[in-house]
Amino acid sequence: MAQRDAHQVADWKGQSGERWVAHQARLDARVAVFGQAAIEAAAPATGERVLDVGCGAGASSLALAARVGAGGHVLGVDISEPLIGRARALAPQDTPVQFRVADASSAELPGGAFDILFSRFGVMFFNDPTGAFAHMRRALKPGGRVAFVCWRGMAENDWVRLPMDVIKGIVPPTAPPDPEAPGPFSFGDPGRVDRILTAAGFTDIALAPFDASIPFGEGATRDAAIDDAVKMTFEVGPLSRALADHPDDIRARASAAVRAAFADLPGERSVMIDRATWIITARNPAS
Ligand SMILES: C[S@@+](CC[C@H](N)C(=O)[O-])C[C@H]1O[C@@H](n2cnc3c(N)ncnc32)[C@H](O)[C@@H]1O
Repeated sequence: MAQRDAHQVADWKGQSGERWVAHQARLDARVAVFGQAAIEAAAPATGERVLDVGCGAGASSLALAARVGAGGHVLGVDISEPLIGRARALAPQDTPVQFRVADASSAELPGGAFDILFSRFGVMFFNDPTGAFAHMRRALKPGGRVAFVCWRGMAENDWVRLPMDVIKGIVPPTAPPDPEAPGPFSFGDPGRVDRILTAAGFTDIALAPFDASIPFGEGATRDAAIDDAVKMTFEVGPLSRALADHPDDIRARASAAVRAAFADLPGERSVMIDRATWIITARNPAS
């Protein structure tokens, strides 16, 4: 049986993208507060042009479009066809937004065209992050700004740390992950992010921690909320990948252990869980 590694790159063009589409409204709700913090850091002004990288189903692109208004423009780029399909379906008519299926690290982008390079959790998956950021920088105007949100390390993110810790004795051990391999936590090390952005030609690089406790599962009762949190954890994200190819008995034991861990978390008709991010800003040199 092919054993999966929890840190294996998400298959955005296939199953991961499809699962995100299936749970799009709930996933959007879970990350909205972090995206909003990144939008405030980007400070989009009326009439500006924004490139939203790894835009997924487009929630952040639509929020940015509302800020730049009819005189501005947002281009949302994502490698996943199903997610771009959902983004197009959700975009109201006459919104100044366009969605494109493309690999942001290599796709042809208009040169010097954008005021802002933005992303909500969409830039941690490049094989060559320095090359990707250098490529995307060329789409920015001189003096253009960067603002994106990404996860800090897994150790600080209970939504993954807790379930991954409790399944350790249940699933056979795998090799420790390479913290720099493409994946949700690959930008957790601030020194690494600084090195990548500096090598890609950006200046004025700043990282600010932004943490929030969010409802991870919800339901009519506390029990229903815990079940919901477990179900989502098994369907989307690192734990789902870690358990994907395991037999039902292992999955059932893992599910019971994750449920017990979530039951210790606060919440009434929810399971409140901490999430830790960086809000990262930078600038394209003026000339
Ligand atoms: C964690 S999801 C975030 C989606 C969306 N920004 C949101 O917050 O809902 C990461 C997104 O990055 C996209 N992605 C990954 N690698 C990419 C690449 N090389 N070019 C463009 N998009 C990419 C994925 O398809 C996925 O939609």
